Amino acid sequence: MSLWGGRFTGAPSQALAALSVSTHVDWRLARYDIAGSRAHARALAAVGLLDASQLAAMIASLDSLEHDVVSGAFTPAPEDEDVHTALERGLIERAGQDLGGRLRAGRSRNDQIATLIRMYLRDAARRTAGLVLDVVDALVSQASGAGAAIMPGRTHLQHAQPVLLAHHLLAHAWPLMRDVERMIDWDARAAVSPYGSGALAGNTLGLDPDAVAAELGFEAAVDNSIDGTAARDVVAEMSFILAMTAVDLSRLSEEVIIWGTKEFGFITLDDAYSTGSSIMPQKKNPDVAELARGKAGRLIGDLAGLLATLKGLPLAYDRDLQEDKEPVFDALDTLAVLLPAVAGMVDTMTLHRERMAELAPQGFSLATDVAEWLVKKGVAFRAAHEIAGACVKACEERGMELWELSDAEMVAIDPRLGPGVRDVLSAEGSVAARDGRGGTAPVRVLEQLARAGTHVAEL
Ligand code: ARG
Repeated sequence: MSLWGGRFTGAPSQALAALSVSTHVDWRLARYDIAGSRAHARALAAVGLLDASQLAAMIASLDSLEHDVVSGAFTPAPEDEDVHTALERGLIERAGQDLGGRLRAGRSRNDQIATLIRMYLRDAARRTAGLVLDVVDALVSQASGAGAAIMPGRTHLQHAQPVLLAHHLLAHAWPLMRDVERMIDWDARAAVSPYGSGALAGNTLGLDPDAVAAELGFEAAVDNSIDGTAARDVVAEMSFILAMTAVDLSRLSEEVIIWGTKEFGFITLDDAYSTGSSIMPQKKNPDVAELARGKAGRLIGDLAGLLATLKGLPLAYDRDLQEDKEPVFDALDTLAVLLPAVAGMVDTMTLHRERMAELAPQGFSLATDVAEWLVKKGVAFRAAHEIAGACVKACEERGMELWELSDAEMVAIDPRLGPGVRDVLSAEGSVAARDGRGGTAPVRVLEQLARAGTHVAEL
């Protein structure tokens, strides 16, 4: 049963019907549609378009419809174009042609769908944020278990300066906390209801959009009915936040993959979060991390596809807008399976601190410490950099590490390189010296860990 047969003499072609149908995508909005219908029925009653007994019968029919939707007794029929069409059929089956046919007054699928997608995304964002915080919890708990363990810090994937393992793990937690903050900030913009905008110009029936907005949990109704029905930036913004979350997971995952190699040997994944090979009996693969890395590409595609749909689209509603739902649902569904797997992987991985500690001072990662020690002795940094560089060169030629240079060798490189420099020629000395706010010194990281724990609890 279609919602728009009146001015047509013939039925839609099979080809059009097959193209047009969207219930396989939008049926997940059914309960939000019914909630919108209840609020709309009350708005109609408030202006006398439904009397008290009609309103009661309408609400009872909507309740019964919702019950059957939830139980699966009522499902879309092949001829139902979209979720709204299917539910109007279900309402009429319960309330009868006359009463059931009254609910559509003063609303359009254009303001309905723009409202429902916001309701759905607001709930989904809360669920997703909870799952992101589970990953943050796992990182914070590993960081807190890591104590003062030291690892090689890298830039360009080359040894750079030693850092605390906890510091590095928390460097993956903060971006994920910001992703959750973005979801919270986004909600303020999503909490505005387009219901009452009608097809595009508003409604003639004196309906109160603010009352509908309040009943549906929104903060307000939209200020502009054209914008209310045409805008999808709220969907695009959520798609970006979801894609950014996936990208953040992919950066963590890439490190998990590298850390698990024989060459690094920094971690061992728990068997429950590893996979085997069908041919190579010895294999233990980091598939969770690889899927996270791979699926980030998929979420970027979801965002790019939606932006491409919106680009250049004239106001107000165009049917192109129906294409907003599949990509953002895909992004949400993908994260719903990905986040628990990543949380479990992080929570259960074993970190090999001895291996990290052994490598931390290697590769001349203490050269900056030598230069900065000289600076504290009054040497200009430009000269200090040269002197420390000369130490590295000497070590490289002799196949040794910086701390293996004798006092005499150091003084030969530069007389200002006294034996005191040995205080900073250890990974422990190096991290302890970086004690400014945000630095990797154990005292600072301990404070940071406490702040991260407090912040995650506030989100
Ligand atoms: N199924 C449509 C969508 O998801 C609902 C709005 C349809 N409106 C219309 N005039 N055809 O966007």
